[in-house]
Amino acid sequence: MKTVLVVVQSALMICMTLISCVTYAASSKSEVVVKVDETSFSCIRQMTPVRHFYVDNVLGNIDATLAAANAPDGAIYPTGSVVQLVPTEVMVKREPGTSPVTGDWEFFELEVDEAGTKIAKRGFIDVNNRFGGNCFACHLPAKEKWDFICESGHGCEPIPIDHKMTGALQRSDPRCGETALESGDTMALFKLKMMVSLGATKKWFEDLF
Ligand code: HEC
Repeated sequence: MKTVLVVVQSALMICMTLISCVTYAASSKSEVVVKVDETSFSCIRQMTPVRHFYVDNVLGNIDATLAAANAPDGAIYPTGSVVQLVPTEVMVKREPGTSPVTGDWEFFELEVDEAGTKIAKRGFIDVNNRFGGNCFACHLPAKEKWDFICESGHGCEPIPIDHKMTGALQRSDPRCGETALESGDTMALFKLKMMVSLGATKKWFEDLF
């Protein structure tokens, strides 16, 4: 009888330990914190290149981020993922449940110079880039299969900036120190500048009338 009791008691102990372990694992999972401030961002070229853009993971889970970025049929990016095409615009995958409507992506508009990074705007559905375009609205068509990542052919309206221009912007990120310009980059940056100033002139006229 005594042995039976001891066996039952030990079984109970093991059960309790298991339950508390499982509960601990579950609770610690939901307590993952994705801390993002201006120190989270630096030279874009120090991130990991994927095709024409760059990725990182603030939780150190770069392999999972790369796996999502390279999944041929699309995938949900893991928590902590950072995605950048140009030095001034970033998407960061926040904690699960933070913002279901944006797939937990937080959008950032940055100001960058030799001294580093400043966060001009951050948020979920209401962040606009410097041209007045809403990040979330533009990226929404790519939601279903591609977790809001537009690239080309994922359903987003194409932007008037080609990969020669985004490449030139990456190679001239002022936070990297020396630029690493390739042939044709100076022309691409010049064209981009013209487009931006024409866009700004148009906006100025629109504001005027
Ligand atoms: C006018 C629509 C539009 C707006 C506004 C816009 N994007 Fe994009 N974004 C795109 C398209 C299209 C691409 C893919 C471009 C390519 O690779 O050819 C892209 C690419 C990106 C990428 C690289 C990964 C990807 O989706 O291909 C990031 C990161 C990004 N945008 C972040 C932002 C952030 C942050 C904002 C707001 C501050 C923003 N975007 C505003 C349309 C837009």
